[in-house]
Amino acid sequence: MAVIIDAKPLFLQIREEVKREVEQLKKQGISPGLAVILAEDDPTSKLYVSKKVKDCAKVGIYSEVWELYDIPIEKRMNALINLISELNERHDITGILVQLPLPPQIDMYRVLGRILPEKDVDGLTPHNKGLLMSNYDLDRDPLPCTAIGIMKLLDHCGINVSGMFVVIVGRSELVGKPLFKLLLDRDATPVCVHRRSKETEKLLKKADMVICAAGRPPELFKEDPFRLTGDMIDEGTIVINVGIRRDGAGNVYYDVDFESVVEKCSYITKNETVGYMTRAMLLKNTVKTSKMFAERIHHLTLYNYNAID
Ligand code: GUN
Repeated sequence: MAVIIDAKPLFLQIREEVKREVEQLKKQGISPGLAVILAEDDPTSKLYVSKKVKDCAKVGIYSEVWELYDIPIEKRMNALINLISELNERHDITGILVQLPLPPQIDMYRVLGRILPEKDVDGLTPHNKGLLMSNYDLDRDPLPCTAIGIMKLLDHCGINVSGMFVVIVGRSELVGKPLFKLLLDRDATPVCVHRRSKETEKLLKKADMVICAAGRPPELFKEDPFRLTGDMIDEGTIVINVGIRRDGAGNVYYDVDFESVVEKCSYITKNETVGYMTRAMLLKNTVKTSKMFAERIHHLTLYNYNAID
């Protein structure tokens, strides 16, 4: 019988810890503020953003949402870049999040690269990605929320990945790529498979753990789906179920066929539960960046003072 992992209790515990930390920070004159930018009229993204805003309110973090999806697509990238520049300058905004995915016409890397690393709550700027690739401090540096959230959930469940062969399905900036590095740093043997990978079926059968983070958009799901079913894994595999997409009609597409997989695996995350970890880590990252931004302002003040002197 598989253990079914529910991340909600851990989310509630972390949210409470963050609330207390925000109270302490405010006493020191640091007020975290998060700006979330929605550049695509996507039902899944809108739902996630509404949850992020509610979470901020619960812990006393100021937040604001910028909806740019009504701007014509050919003008939207410039609008995004201009908005990020303005938000970088503001002192009441200490964290900036550009909700992904962006429309395909927009160069995600150019947009994300404009965010000040000290305000990058997603850990997706070149600077913070560099830290992930080199020497990071999990307590200080903002790293991609879902990836660090999954690692935290595994620790919480007492699952030690050392020596495990882990198949990550999907190579996104948010999940697949950062998880690969985090797992490697914990002595696992990760492999990232994707649409063009050969022998995915064989690798899945050999895996001690499968992390499904393909998240195929509904329009692609029909012709080119990824869906993990019980017959694709070995008995006792650990399955982490990340990828979900919704369409405008309210249909939900999961990467994992829970009913068949639960019969075969040793652990499985409940549908949608990994989202709680993303939300918890976003709150934590927003606190981290508020401290980093406060340090930055402090240095700038000192610098200006010396310059005048
Ligand atoms: N879309 C789905 N999850 C995330 C996330 O954690 N950050 C951003 N920026 N976009 C997302």
